[in-house]
Amino acid sequence: MNVKEIILEMTLEEKAGLCSGSDFWHTKAIERLGVPEVMLSDGPHGLRKQDQSQDNLGINDSIKAICFPAACAIAASFDRELIYDMGKALGEECQHENVSTILGPAVNIKRSPLCGRNFEYFSEDPYLATEMATNHIKGVQSENVGTSMKHFLANNQEHRRMSASSEIDERTLREIYLAAFEGAVKNAKPWTIMCSYNGINGTLASENKKYLTDILRGEWGFEGYVMSDWGAVNDRVKGLEAGLDLEMPGSNGVNDNRIVQAVKEGRLDEKIVDQAVERILNIINRYTKNRKEDAEWDMEAHHDLARKIEGECMVLLKNEGILPLKKGGKIALIGKFAGSPRYQGGGSSHVNSFKIVSALTAAEGIADIIYAQGYEDNQDIINEEMLNRACDVAKNAEVAVVFAGLPDSFESEGYDRIHMSMPNCQNELIKRIAKVQPNTVVVLHNGSPIEMPWADDVKGILEAYLGGQAVGEACVDVLFGDVNPSGKLPETFPRKLQDNPSYLYYGGEGDKSEYREGVFVGYRYYDKKDMDVLFPFGYGLSYTTFDYSNLKLSSKEMKDSDILTVTVDITNTGDKEGKEIVQLYVGAKDSNIIRPLKELRGFEKISLNKGETKNVTFSLSKRAFSYYNTQIHDWYVETGDYQILIGKSSRDIILKDTIHVEALKKLPFKLTVNTTFGDLLERPEAVEELKSLIDIVKVSMEDMTKGKDEENSDAISDDMGNAMLKYMPIRGILSFGGGSITYDEITQIVDDTNKKLYEK
Ligand code: BGC
Repeated sequence: MNVKEIILEMTLEEKAGLCSGSDFWHTKAIERLGVPEVMLSDGPHGLRKQDQSQDNLGINDSIKAICFPAACAIAASFDRELIYDMGKALGEECQHENVSTILGPAVNIKRSPLCGRNFEYFSEDPYLATEMATNHIKGVQSENVGTSMKHFLANNQEHRRMSASSEIDERTLREIYLAAFEGAVKNAKPWTIMCSYNGINGTLASENKKYLTDILRGEWGFEGYVMSDWGAVNDRVKGLEAGLDLEMPGSNGVNDNRIVQAVKEGRLDEKIVDQAVERILNIINRYTKNRKEDAEWDMEAHHDLARKIEGECMVLLKNEGILPLKKGGKIALIGKFAGSPRYQGGGSSHVNSFKIVSALTAAEGIADIIYAQGYEDNQDIINEEMLNRACDVAKNAEVAVVFAGLPDSFESEGYDRIHMSMPNCQNELIKRIAKVQPNTVVVLHNGSPIEMPWADDVKGILEAYLGGQAVGEACVDVLFGDVNPSGKLPETFPRKLQDNPSYLYYGGEGDKSEYREGVFVGYRYYDKKDMDVLFPFGYGLSYTTFDYSNLKLSSKEMKDSDILTVTVDITNTGDKEGKEIVQLYVGAKDSNIIRPLKELRGFEKISLNKGETKNVTFSLSKRAFSYYNTQIHDWYVETGDYQILIGKSSRDIILKDTIHVEALKKLPFKLTVNTTFGDLLERPEAVEELKSLIDIVKVSMEDMTKGKDEENSDAISDDMGNAMLKYMPIRGILSFGGGSITYDEITQIVDDTNKKLYEK
């Protein structure tokens, strides 16, 4: 179809109509012009194609599909290829089902452990989030199926998600919340973006031109179309002008009419409608042109892929010589989740899995398995009978593996958690089992951090997250050593909820949610505060061990326009093949800016045979050293020394070196009468020009300190004198310069200096 020609043929009513869905899941067809309707479906980690038109919250069953590990899990793999493979498999399923766009990935930052949708989100770190999103998108789109990266922007809580405004300062938005989207938009070019329900600094995302157009398209080069989250439209005309192209699911024609009226009354330029129509048609065209009518997919093969992926996602948090388990031993599997795993979250991402394999089923024949349920997951009641039975079973085995975590009702779209605990009945079960069975391992199913009051009482902890429909098999693969665990935490597990930086303000007051912790999200905060955490960002164990050596930087000094190459050797020093996630953090030394101590700027996952060494290479450019400067509204590198830190986790840095980076551009500067003498003295070129003023101050300072010796030697210390001078604004000479200069003379010198030095 020739999009431009079609637009010329379309009536205004047809154009306005195309800018909203025909039902919950389809765009509108225009039969007379050969424009087909296309289907959109959730997303993100499995296909949720629904026949019912009125359900976007996963209430009704969708077609049978594969539930892959949710984003919380797959982010722990830190594996770009793996998530690409998952995306590709999703794309194949979409082609088979004639779904043109799958609604995901969801890349919102995990600001608080409480967010109800954390399980759908990747990380507290924007670099990890954007890298995972990039490869998810590339995988899906390699099958010529679109993605809809969501929820743009700053949708980090479910509480009042449809109306609350996220109040965030410019630097924090850029460094944390926008950054999670930025890399993926630039590098993977998603076909569509979904705007969020919430507002950003007082303007709804669906009407926010700054983000939907100026940044998304203007700065990042986005070329697809923007759709609304389901029901996120308030003022349709404003939205269209801001860059919201498609309204989903539609408003039964009300908003289409508003568009038509606005154009007829001259309140809306028809060109803006044409532009949205063109963007939508381009994507429809892209899909239909590449449609694979006879696309097939193999359910069992995709299930196996889900199992393989989850095997790479699990994070071994504790292992006191207990794992892997011996095959053929007598093992007690305990807990409801051993028999029916919690493997996905509630809401729009809920997949109708074609099969679910529990650990109990998967372990059959591998060991002598005995089982006890231990708790109910639909109510938090300590059932003594169940506990006693579970303890008896545990006592009779060599090892007890307790499957625990958060029940469905604890985390879901639509509402946030109110605490970070697991149900009491599960905590109690683990404590009692650990008392009777010294060899106890806990396997966790949860989409977000939890408190672990029993962590010291057990020998092993395996974080499986919400691992998709094959999680039971993947758990057994790892527990018995067929798969060597290689996931690392994509988020910090604080010791308690109160430690989280957003704790005081999370959820907000009324319709305002203030992000007062600024850029100090996750490890950026815990590290700066030197706070003890339960498990740090980037942490995870393996059944083998790795040695880090030979860190080399391609240079000791660079300009901010250069590329720095960093190499390091990693050796598998254990007796098993294994995978390691090598992390690179950058931290500014002696910065004048309030910055995190270090930030993740690179990671590589490598596979090593026992005894094998591999060289890992990272490339760092300007952005790796930058912070977002709100004076120039751009990324900026302070001239100075930066540490290159290579670690096994954010708290286990093995090797470090320093690079000096020189900023090519200087920040704009202008003297005013309020510039302090301290700041002035740091600019040698200005010192020269303002020598006469500096001399006056020096004399007056000398006079002051003279008095000190004679009368009261404690009243003015040298430090105080220096500080007084350093922090005194130039205009201070009027009060402290003994009347030797007038205000007009001061402003004259300041103006002349600006003209000579800074206003070129
Ligand atoms: C969710 C989106 C989802 C959409 C369609 C909304 O409630 O926030 O993530 O894609 O529904 O189901």
